[in-house]
Amino acid sequence: MVLLEIKSISYRVKEKEIFSGLSLSVEPGEVHAILGKNGTGKSTLAYLVMGCEGYIPTTGEILFDGKAINHLLLHERAKLGITMAWQEPVRFEGISVREYLTLKNKEIDPSKYLEMAGLYPGLYLNRMMDNTLSGGERKRIELASVVALDPRLVILDEPDSGIDMLSIRDILNVITVFKENGASVILITHREEIAIIADKASEICNGKIICSGAPVKVTQYYKTRKCEVCAGEECTFV
Ligand SMILES: Nc1ncnc2c1ncn2[C@@H]1O[C@H](COP(=O)(O)OP(=O)(O)OP(=O)(O)O)[C@@H](O)[C@H]1O
Ligand SMILES: [Mg+2]
Repeated sequence: MVLLEIKSISYRVKEKEIFSGLSLSVEPGEVHAILGKNGTGKSTLAYLVMGCEGYIPTTGEILFDGKAINHLLLHERAKLGITMAWQEPVRFEGISVREYLTLKNKEIDPSKYLEMAGLYPGLYLNRMMDNTLSGGERKRIELASVVALDPRLVILDEPDSGIDMLSIRDILNVITVFKENGASVILITHREEIAIIADKASEICNGKIICSGAPVKVTQYYKTRKCEVCAGEECTFV
């Protein structure tokens, strides 16, 4: 049983071919780490799965629960339970943290979700979601809001970026909560200590998944192979 199946997708931006026949599948409840150097297309893959405007594969298909979702818009995919925490945290003028967390569901207790993301509710619930919050604080609030949505599939695009080293455990905690809730997680990260908690890891290089399997094995491969500037044939499946 597969929840998300990406079947041989290709995608190009202007002249640049970002994906050429990339395939990936994620099972229900699976945490799947995605590794890859800067610019390999990890965020682009997230936008294609989310259905962001203009992000439609040139060829290939994306299936969710066995149904093709290529033609569905972002909000239609959101209704199916597909959601994302962005690499760059969001900023909303004129809305409080409490309002932001309860935008989709007024019934939830926002404090519970802030605590999950390592923030003390008393200090944050009445703050505004603007640039008076630090980048790391916004990032945590966004993680809390995504947990509150209770998604079936969540894409975390570098949830650890901008988060201090000592607080990595808060990120790991949020990932554990998703897992306990039965959600599948696509975990985009550059950090080995985060990737290794996944059930499976895959590395993107030169438009394809070049290595997939146990996170310990894939992170080791990612760290040690000699392919500095990937030229296709240098990358071989292990
Ligand atoms: N609108 C655009 N015009 C030109 N190039 C683009 C555009 N959007 C993305 N790209 C290029 O596509 C490639 C993939 O970008 P993407 O943001 O997906 O990389 P990434 O793997 O997430 O990198 P990082 O690790 O730095 O976050 C990059 O080389 C980027 O410069
Ligand atoms: Mg990125």
